[in-house]
Amino acid sequence: MKERKKSEDPRLTFLNNISSLVTSVSDLDRLLELIIESATEVMGARASSLLLLDKKKEKLYFQAATGDKKDDVKKFEVSLGKGIAGYVAKTGKPLLVEDVEKGSVWDKKISESIGFDTKSIACVPMKIGEEVIGVVEIIDREDGKPIRSGDMDILMAFANLAASAIMKATEYKKMVAENVGLKSQLDERYQIVGESSEIKKVIADAIKVANSKSTVLIEGESGTGKELIARLIHRSGPRRDKAFVIVNCGALPETLLEAELFGHERGSFTGALYKKIGLFETADGGTIFLDEIGEMSQTMQVKLLRVLQESTFNRIGSSVPITVDVRVISATNKDLSKRTKEGKFREDLFYRINVIQLKMPALRERREDIALLAEYFLLEYSGDRGLKKMEISSEAMKVMLSYDWPGNVRELENAIERAVVMGDGNPIMVSDLPIGKTDGGFDGGVEVGMTLRDAQDLFKKEFLKKTLAYTHGNRKKAAEIMEIQRTYLSRLISEFGLRF
Ligand SMILES: Nc1ncnc2c1ncn2[C@@H]1O[C@H](COP(=O)(O)OP(=O)(O)OP(=O)(O)O)[C@@H](O)[C@H]1O
Ligand SMILES: [Mg+2]
Repeated sequence: MKERKKSEDPRLTFLNNISSLVTSVSDLDRLLELIIESATEVMGARASSLLLLDKKKEKLYFQAATGDKKDDVKKFEVSLGKGIAGYVAKTGKPLLVEDVEKGSVWDKKISESIGFDTKSIACVPMKIGEEVIGVVEIIDREDGKPIRSGDMDILMAFANLAASAIMKATEYKKMVAENVGLKSQLDERYQIVGESSEIKKVIADAIKVANSKSTVLIEGESGTGKELIARLIHRSGPRRDKAFVIVNCGALPETLLEAELFGHERGSFTGALYKKIGLFETADGGTIFLDEIGEMSQTMQVKLLRVLQESTFNRIGSSVPITVDVRVISATNKDLSKRTKEGKFREDLFYRINVIQLKMPALRERREDIALLAEYFLLEYSGDRGLKKMEISSEAMKVMLSYDWPGNVRELENAIERAVVMGDGNPIMVSDLPIGKTDGGFDGGVEVGMTLRDAQDLFKKEFLKKTLAYTHGNRKKAAEIMEIQRTYLSRLISEFGLRF
């Protein structure tokens, strides 16, 4: 059989080339070059070029060119409205000039300066919708015959092809940019705020362990940011583009938790109407975050242990083992080692999930972060409501700085949110904060007939009681808030016979 040479059928060459490249929009330059190379070949032209319009500058630039002088021509630019290409770009209408010497629009500057002896030019616009984005032109035919109007349709088809390639590439770029934007927005949402050495250490450790697959146990009181740290580990490591799956082990009864984690086959138990993919499968390649792992039942602990040991499990009702590659991060606000010693948590599982430990510090152990977090949440919540920048009064800040925050960062976040939504306005006052409130309003208890001194004493006594109740009897803190000496406070306490 005779070997087929590519040049035998230019249309076939064109199709082969274009179809292999048309899908790879990332290489737009090459695709455009290929389109006009094919156009030159199919139309038997001496040279061709593709110019893109820069609307702001009102200029056309050579994006791709073929022919002997293709590198020289790329140095030129064409003003919108000038010459054949400029005219076509401006009017959006195709133009065929069979003899350039006779036409008036032709600007021979380019041809002359590159030493290209041009006879005829066909030029068509590239459009996206109604908008002209550039032009494609061919110059002369190899066989010396003039370009004919019948050739214009073919040239138009090439121009359309180039235009749609450009449009797709622009869409693609926009999509990529939007995706990046979304991702950084997400990252921003899970930002960990804090400058204290305690939080910085946890963050540094989290980033350090991100690249390994070792199990991590995050301990810490409620609301300290355990989930945030787990997310940080996930997105700082090689699994960042895969799923981060959260399972709250305390929220579901045992059988439901098992179905959630491992999935089930259809009909495997009453109510299993459909096949269900478990969360371990969903997290394949990524990370599973087992929140409140201390709440897991003994039976589930055994099942989990098997997955951790063998990376294998079965859907409920199936004997086919499923193998997954999942990184396991667990969290607990219980003292898990104590529970293990008490026999409430399996020792073998405890060691499996506890290869690396991270301990989230309580907010009261890193008070220097309180102001920072308060400002951060203030910006977030007032921003959410489209409010102008809000401030926190110095009294309110003082109260926040000395409060113990048993609910940690979550409580602080809620306090600020409430102050923004329910508070009396800007700046945020102590009364806007839902913390340290004592029962019953203080009306001063003063009555007409009292001496000023008695009234003052009564006021002082109630005021001390209120502040001390708020600091849980902590005299040092109370004195700081009231800006008095601690020794003076002690004297007042005994003077008024207060029990603190
Ligand atoms: N350092 C921090 N910077 C910004 N936001 C934080 C920080 N720590 C916690 N938060 C916010 O506080 C809230 C509680 O955090 P998270 O859910 O991570 O805590 P948790 O330890 O998992 O709590 P729980 O034990 O109650 O589940 C979240 O809204 C989180 O965004
Ligand atoms: Mg949590």
